[in-house]
Amino acid sequence: MILGIPKEILENETRVAAIPATVKQYISAGFDVKIESGAGLKSQITDNDFKDAGAEILPDASSVFNSSDMILKVNSPTDDELAMIKDGSSYISFFQTMKETSKVSALKDKKVTAFSMHLIPRTTLAQKMDALSSQTNIAGYKAVIIGASHIDKYMPLLMTAAGTISPAKVLVLGAGVAGLSAIATAKRLGSQVEASDVRPEVKEQVESLGAKFLEVKSDSEDGVGEGGYAKETSEDYKKKQAELLAERVADSDIVVTTALIPGRPAPILISDEMVKSMRPGSVVMDLAAENGGNCSLTKPDELVNIDGVLVDGTVNLAGTMSVHASQLYAKNVSAFILHGYDKEKKEFNLEDEIMTGSMFVHNGEIVDERTKSAVEGNQ
Ligand code: NAI
Repeated sequence: MILGIPKEILENETRVAAIPATVKQYISAGFDVKIESGAGLKSQITDNDFKDAGAEILPDASSVFNSSDMILKVNSPTDDELAMIKDGSSYISFFQTMKETSKVSALKDKKVTAFSMHLIPRTTLAQKMDALSSQTNIAGYKAVIIGASHIDKYMPLLMTAAGTISPAKVLVLGAGVAGLSAIATAKRLGSQVEASDVRPEVKEQVESLGAKFLEVKSDSEDGVGEGGYAKETSEDYKKKQAELLAERVADSDIVVTTALIPGRPAPILISDEMVKSMRPGSVVMDLAAENGGNCSLTKPDELVNIDGVLVDGTVNLAGTMSVHASQLYAKNVSAFILHGYDKEKKEFNLEDEIMTGSMFVHNGEIVDERTKSAVEGNQ
């Protein structure tokens, strides 16, 4: 089986779906690997690095798509890439299948077997394949680093001969993978950190990182949905949360928002008024920007200045750390492929639950139920 890795073509994308170490793994497992020239350059990997690992370098994307049985990518395919994917081949990348429904239909029509890194089940066995976690972990870390460089202040408490500097105040909304990473980073930099989440069980995790947990006191306990993920909250909860946040946001130097609800637009937690209540020089880092944002004033991939308060909607924060982002993503993908590939039969074991969980089209059918309803709803 030939694995093909084209160069990512989105403007702000720096990552690549393979690194020399994973190329070596694929080759020793019996795969051939073809990589587009320059695919690794933005992650500091040269064609020679890939060649030394055993890959064949091809001059352009179309030669990679034409000659590969399975394409490995970071981002879902653009229209040009969709046109190049071979009928009946296999495909894997991040893919918001409930949102990118026309692309799902195009792959279905081409009888492609496609897997989404977004759909990999979050089980213990699949942890090493969990690219959502590896990439959002980076995003949470980098959001605090960027936020710290936006504000005109120190992060830690300092006692100097010229006086005492109070620590910066950081508020993290949504304490999942990105949020916990942001909390840990903000604490390491010495700032004072508060966090909130709809899932009450994260209180202990937040406190174990040394941050204060802000609990929304609501009669309803409806923030917890299927599989332990968040679901949309009640009107009562939203009102109480807004009251609590109005006060805490106004007092923060950096607000990092990471709140997401699977398959839904991001909830708005920071209103125009809350942004206007912040001190000039403070910042909102909105990690939910790609899904609409947690702040009403966020513009995806833009830095907006509202009377001196910055609202940063940078979308691909993981891509700003391409070396480690590619290293971790490529390892997640290789763990998935090597887990699912049956070396004896030289085919994927499509009965395996990680493979079935992440596969959304196969043999001209949409095989993931949530994806199917989203595609049918859009027809
Ligand atoms: P996510 O990216 O879907 O959401 C981020 C956070 O936002 C979540 O903690 C969610 O509760 C919170 N949120 C949603 N709506 C909110 C609102 N209105 N107000 C405040 N907060 C809100 O979630 P993520 O980070 O991908 O994972 C969530 C959880 O899934 C993890 O903390 C963990 O418990 C579990 N998980 C399990 C894994 C495994 O077992 N292998 C791997 C990764 C995550």
